[in-house]
Amino acid sequence: MIRIAVLGGDGIGPEVVAASLPALRRACEKSGLDVEFPEALVGGAAFDATGHPLPPATLKLCDASQAIFFGAVGGPKYDKIPDPNLRPERGSLLPLRKRYELFANLRPARVYPGLEGQSHLKPEYLKGLDLLVIRELTGGAYFGRKELKADRAFDAIEYKASEIERLMHFAFRAAMGRGRRLTLVHKANVLLTSVLWKKVAEKVSRKYPRVKMDDCYVDAFAMYLVRRPASFDVVATENMMGDILTDEAAEVTGSIGLLPSASLGTRGNRLGSFGLYEPCHGSAPDIAGKGLANPLATLLSAALLLRYSLGREKAARALEDAVARTLADGFRTRDLASPAAKGGKGTRAGRLVSTRQMGEAVLERLEKIRFS
Ligand code: IPM
Ligand code: MG
Repeated sequence: MIRIAVLGGDGIGPEVVAASLPALRRACEKSGLDVEFPEALVGGAAFDATGHPLPPATLKLCDASQAIFFGAVGGPKYDKIPDPNLRPERGSLLPLRKRYELFANLRPARVYPGLEGQSHLKPEYLKGLDLLVIRELTGGAYFGRKELKADRAFDAIEYKASEIERLMHFAFRAAMGRGRRLTLVHKANVLLTSVLWKKVAEKVSRKYPRVKMDDCYVDAFAMYLVRRPASFDVVATENMMGDILTDEAAEVTGSIGLLPSASLGTRGNRLGSFGLYEPCHGSAPDIAGKGLANPLATLLSAALLLRYSLGREKAARALEDAVARTLADGFRTRDLASPAAKGGKGTRAGRLVSTRQMGEAVLERLEKIRFS
């Protein structure tokens, strides 16, 4: 029996997870896997119930699982918790990433047919956009030494060459399986950590002569990402730059509600890597509980789970296809429907559906795809 820990968390987290689980379960069944999906508390919900955002029972479940299917954590209510280490983000998500050394965070961004009018960019700039950002996830400012005093504060950015090296190997291997182009994003004209990133990346690149690597300052990259997003293939970068750029990449493709993620490390078994799978959008407290959230980023994260933690490539593709077909058939959660409804050029207004209905539409299409 394979175990997947389900941590819905806060805000829209539980809704998008609940809307996605039936399709993930079905994909597992159809690929002959015997999987159980026990749930546990995390984030603010766990803090409210137990006084800690990552209680021992949750850790125990995650330790005994092959992957974590994660919603989102945080919300304004919890920003007032005096100890920052007990706040949902710092107290649960970051420790989970660190505990399992989930150093490689994959964030694939593409444009789905029918959603070209959704982006704020003109459709001609989106043609061929298929980007994979690989963000380093367990180092940099997020985990460096920190101090907060009344009149000063600092967050140190620190990286070991070995941390950069493993991320770059991961990125080069990913590039080998795609368009064989890799862009390293850094700030080596100012930051010494970036100087090290560049040096290590150049060394690793010699082992992958078939991949064409180039590099780019982060400020310029932010500009190129809106000017010519389709010119990039795999992008590798450090933790905080990756955080910022992937929100930008999501917006370029149309909605942050479409951007999935996989966080992978070195742990694994015969099926695949241990991983944490979560949508990139966060807990969106303003729309929580209203059925307005888009579950597609979570469903696409479930596809990544099938691919990387369960070794089921066909099932992963089937789920991705089911999402694409659902969009092609005009199903739209509010984030996708409004600009079109306002008359966005070249886009059908589509059928406005709730979080749950979107999940059901994907499941229905998944049933029709043969992949077992
Ligand atoms: C993300 C999120 C997190 C991050 C937050 C919730 C801590 O923005 O996964 O991109 O900054 O890594
Ligand atoms: Mg982010």
